[in-house]
Amino acid sequence: MMTIPVLTIDGPSGAGKGTVSRAVAKQLGWHYLDSGSIYRSLAIAVLQQQTELSDVAAVVKVAEAMQLEFECGDELIVKLNGTDITAQLGTETTGNTASIIAAYPDVRQVLLQKQKDFKKLPGLVADGRDMGTVVFPDAASKVFLTASADERAKRRYKQLIEKGISANLDRITQEIEARDKRDQERKAAPLVAAKDALTIDSSNLNINQVIEAVLSLVR
Ligand code: C5P
Repeated sequence: MMTIPVLTIDGPSGAGKGTVSRAVAKQLGWHYLDSGSIYRSLAIAVLQQQTELSDVAAVVKVAEAMQLEFECGDELIVKLNGTDITAQLGTETTGNTASIIAAYPDVRQVLLQKQKDFKKLPGLVADGRDMGTVVFPDAASKVFLTASADERAKRRYKQLIEKGISANLDRITQEIEARDKRDQERKAAPLVAAKDALTIDSSNLNINQVIEAVLSLVR
């Protein structure tokens, strides 16, 4: 059987994983899994259906029932139960809700196979929190991409302002720190570098330097 090469890129939110993963996948001609978008889609489904966030069994049911379609062009388009939800994927509410429900082990279990299904020839770049530790532990190349919370908050602030969305840097910093804490301290698949991952701190690197470092690891 032919082995399908997998590159995992894990790290906290705002470290640049998405941009780096997409660019690397494009250069290699590999598939791309944005696993955060799966948790975000579930968050949107849960919010739409007004499911109580603390009702784990109800959240699991929503996860089991949701139908997701991904169209990977220049921009990732996601459809939830047939409706395009791309515009809501990136909001802070979606991200924060995703991080709350991602802490439930039963929810993670339901979403596990949906993520594994992305592994196809000629290869996969998988971006998330537990790609190298839980979902693809046998991946040949693993990266843990990080940056200081201040730097990540500044980047997020800049992105929002550029999109014409009003933003408050202090609040973004606080939200990033709260999300990091929740992701790192949860019992199920916490945010941690895989033992065999190369850690790259992007605080003082530009995006092309990070992409080059990742590509040279794969090569
Ligand atoms: O990466 P992104 O910011 O889109 O992820 C949103 C949230 O989904 C994260 O804060 C995290 O709690 C959760 N997540 C996860 N495991 C992944 C990807 C995302 O728990 N592999």
